[in-house]
Amino acid sequence: MMVVSAKSVVCLCFLFSVCHVRGAYISPKMNRTILNLLKHYKISKEEKYNGQLVFSKESIPEKLVEKRVFMRGVLETYETLINQMLKELPTPLPQTTGSKGGVGEGGAGEDVRTELNYILKMVLKLKTSHYKEQDNLLSSLNKLIGIKKDNFTVQSKALGELPWLYEEASDLNNEIQSRRRRRQARRFKPHRG
Ligand SMILES: *[C@@H]1O[C@H](CO)[C@@H](O)[C@H](O)[C@H]1NC(C)=O
Ligand SMILES: *[C@@H]1O[C@H](CO)[C@@H](O)[C@H](O)[C@H]1NC(C)=O
Repeated sequence: MMVVSAKSVVCLCFLFSVCHVRGAYISPKMNRTILNLLKHYKISKEEKYNGQLVFSKESIPEKLVEKRVFMRGVLETYETLINQMLKELPTPLPQTTGSKGGVGEGGAGEDVRTELNYILKMVLKLKTSHYKEQDNLLSSLNKLIGIKKDNFTVQSKALGELPWLYEEASDLNNEIQSRRRRRQARRFKPHRG
């Protein structure tokens, strides 16, 4: 299904090796747009530097597979967030309103809309080009979160399904532990031998 020429793979590898520096993926235009938007979405210094991030760094998993799923979720969250921000923008005012302030606000709103749309486009581009595989897993996780835990029928059925799920979860745990033991055995052998 995916036809990727060897040439483009080589090209991509080259790009990644050259540009893998922090900030290398944010184009000057994207950076400028974000800084501009921040002039509009201004909060007080106390709020800005209260030491609490919206996306806390500790919640980013270290393992690559988990990290990819998580970052897919982050991109999706930004998609929802920016769409919400767009929805909250004032609708363009007709040019005939007397007050200057009103017209000015309408104009600024349009700039913000254009800029938000640009950022949304960049987020969607990254999501659809590099995070397609994480689609299913993330929607499965969303379904887990959406399970109606206060519904009697759901409670009863979930209890009935617990035995095999409990088996699956325990099995997986054992497998991971024995894999880890095997890896450690391999790692330590040369030093002891
Ligand atoms: C974005 O622009 C600011 C101000 O010019 C600069 O300090 C910062 O390093 C830039 N960030 C990236 C990721 O390019
Ligand atoms: C509980 O869930 C079942 C099955 O999903 C549904 O048919 C039923 O209407 C729900 N009951 C309530 C009170 O929401």
